[in-house]
Amino acid sequence: MIFLLGLAIVYQWLPAQVPAYKNKALKTEQRIQDLLKRMTLDEKIGQLNQLSGGVLTGPAAANDQGQQGKLKDLREGKIGSFLNVLGAAETRSVQKIAVEETRLGIPLVFGFDIIHGYRTVFPIPLAESGTFDPDLAEKAAAIAAREGAAAGVHWTFAPMCDVSRDPRWGRVMEGVGEDPYLGSMMSAARVKGFQRKLGDIASVAACVKHFAGYGASEAGRDYNAVDMSRYQLWNYYMPPYEAAVKAGAATVMNSFNYFDGIPASGNNFLVNDVLRKRWGFKGLVVSDWASFQEMITHGVAANGAEAVRMALNAGSDMDMEGRVAVANLAAEVKAGRVSPARLDQAVASVLKLKFDLGLFDDPYKFCDESREKAELMKPEHLQAAREAAARSMLLLKNEGNALPLKKNLQKVLVVGRYADDPDHCLDFWIGQGNKNEVVGYRKGIENKLGRSVDFAHGYNGDGMTTEALLAEAKSKAINAEVIIAVVGLSGQVAGEARSLAYPELSAGQKELLRTLKATGKNVIVVLHTGRPLVITDIEKDFSAILCAWIGGTEQGNGLADVLFGDYNPSAKTPMSWPWAIGQIPVYYNHTNTGRPFNNPNDFWVSRYRDIPNTPLYPFGYGLSYTNFTMSGPQTAKANYGRSEKITVNVQVNNTGSVAGEEVVQLYIRDLVASRVRPVKELKAFKKVMLQPGQSTTVSFELTQKDFSFYDENGKLLFEPGDFYLYTGGNSRDTQSYLINIK
Ligand code: NOJ
Repeated sequence: MIFLLGLAIVYQWLPAQVPAYKNKALKTEQRIQDLLKRMTLDEKIGQLNQLSGGVLTGPAAANDQGQQGKLKDLREGKIGSFLNVLGAAETRSVQKIAVEETRLGIPLVFGFDIIHGYRTVFPIPLAESGTFDPDLAEKAAAIAAREGAAAGVHWTFAPMCDVSRDPRWGRVMEGVGEDPYLGSMMSAARVKGFQRKLGDIASVAACVKHFAGYGASEAGRDYNAVDMSRYQLWNYYMPPYEAAVKAGAATVMNSFNYFDGIPASGNNFLVNDVLRKRWGFKGLVVSDWASFQEMITHGVAANGAEAVRMALNAGSDMDMEGRVAVANLAAEVKAGRVSPARLDQAVASVLKLKFDLGLFDDPYKFCDESREKAELMKPEHLQAAREAAARSMLLLKNEGNALPLKKNLQKVLVVGRYADDPDHCLDFWIGQGNKNEVVGYRKGIENKLGRSVDFAHGYNGDGMTTEALLAEAKSKAINAEVIIAVVGLSGQVAGEARSLAYPELSAGQKELLRTLKATGKNVIVVLHTGRPLVITDIEKDFSAILCAWIGGTEQGNGLADVLFGDYNPSAKTPMSWPWAIGQIPVYYNHTNTGRPFNNPNDFWVSRYRDIPNTPLYPFGYGLSYTNFTMSGPQTAKANYGRSEKITVNVQVNNTGSVAGEEVVQLYIRDLVASRVRPVKELKAFKKVMLQPGQSTTVSFELTQKDFSFYDENGKLLFEPGDFYLYTGGNSRDTQSYLINIK
């Protein structure tokens, strides 16, 4: 008895047995296996349930039944992740519930769409792609991650790696443009930026989305059908996703669309065969918002049970806001329709993400309010956003060197509501960007000139105008030395669920431009837009057109840097600008067809009768304040063996009078192959800075892989023969050289 009492006393002083999953000294895999053994079926399924949180704690939430319901589920271990719970303080209090009030204390992982910045907003991803500068995209993503992570976010739903040829699709703003190679470079760079070091307090987990083929939404209508050949999928749509996965992205998101008749979330070929087996992806696959459940609406699942079964068996793991996993998965597992092993694998992928982020060892590491305060909108972040804005701006036309403007101009008139109204500046996906912190175009110009400038609204928020607005603009224009007319589309019509049948200027804005032009003054047109626009009807009337895209927090300062020559524009368009809406989709890497249009007198050829086949501005196009000349592609010889590296040299010369950067672009064409090949394919690019009069040689190295393509089964084929090499400053104006590879 005394002995037992003694043992009990000693035992009290021993540290409680730490379960293996909480033991930092063990390997993650061991910890996961230990935890899985301890979890009930319901707790496992809870880990696969992700809900949108919003504000969950505090007085308002306390009176909100919906929010209280979520907290109840959380306490019962039925939620593994929230999206849209933000801020160091709020994430801390919600995390505390998960850690202290659930049976096993499994921390939550908080996700959020940090698409182009958290609080410091950068230019839209499409605009950043146009910099042809992956380092810039990486740096912007790293800053976005640093800010988001300081505000409690662990995981961003970015980058969007969907290539797209359709400017009617609002989501092109979030994407990489129309080219798979550029898209791959940018997607990989963004993953590296977000995930500089997973588990570090300045990094967030990236999410490759939307897998796969979402950018091919029919007719540019969001959430619409996607139907394409596997040949197209492999060669055109897959490369950016693959590059982002290979760059180490921790997670992947299913797309809303179907492929080969099966919605992506339940598509075994996409998730299991390609992503997991072929690419070796070991991370977490999350649905898009309710995309498991939407398989019912698609008409491929009769109910939630079938939907979640399809999703899990196809290799998808987490159910974002669909609630079909919590409602049905237990029964599916018990009935053997989803194997316990598959369930454990899905749960393990969630747990692994949490372990890799370090949340089991320090669940509050991202919840430091003082760090949050210090990180958001840091001066160096704003500076980077300003540079990114300037570097993204695309000079489409500059006749007679209308730009840059002189800083000693006295009477500058800015026209256009979007130039001065924060409501139109940041959308969509503004993170936690505060519209009132945006330096709009008007303000940026005023900052540059050190004084206020004259301003006229010109049109209303919807782009329409009135007689009074026109009259005001006209009367002010008469006194101006230069007019900076900001027209385009409100940020509110860019992004998800913002498809447009008419991606063009409104009738009101066109009328405004005509009114301004009629004054005979120098009118600089600035386009504010999240997508390429059809501007053919106004283009010829103006000597200077600059596309500013949607530039983020510092867009006005960036614009002023460009307009007044402190930054010499260097961006190239990542998407073709259609000549007419009826031309969409128009893209540079099209195939030749059996009847190409080469001669204006040809009739029975693939051509429009009313418009040209070619876009107004081709992919890769963009001007500078200086001029460049470029040689054709130069190689040591014309005949190569297949395993030889091919070095292609290009001489570039800055023939103008100011320093500037040129993007040297290298394209190829496979002349005869077993499948039709595009007339041009971008294979490499380099951005070089040259002083006036300076020239340099840019070298590219191509290997057999660059001359290969995928067949419909995803097999990479190299077929020897003749290939054209092309070099140029855009995809249209190139010089060629023929080589043969045996
Ligand atoms: C739906 C969008 O398609 C996706 O990109 C986003 O990440 C989720 N909603 C979460 O907001």
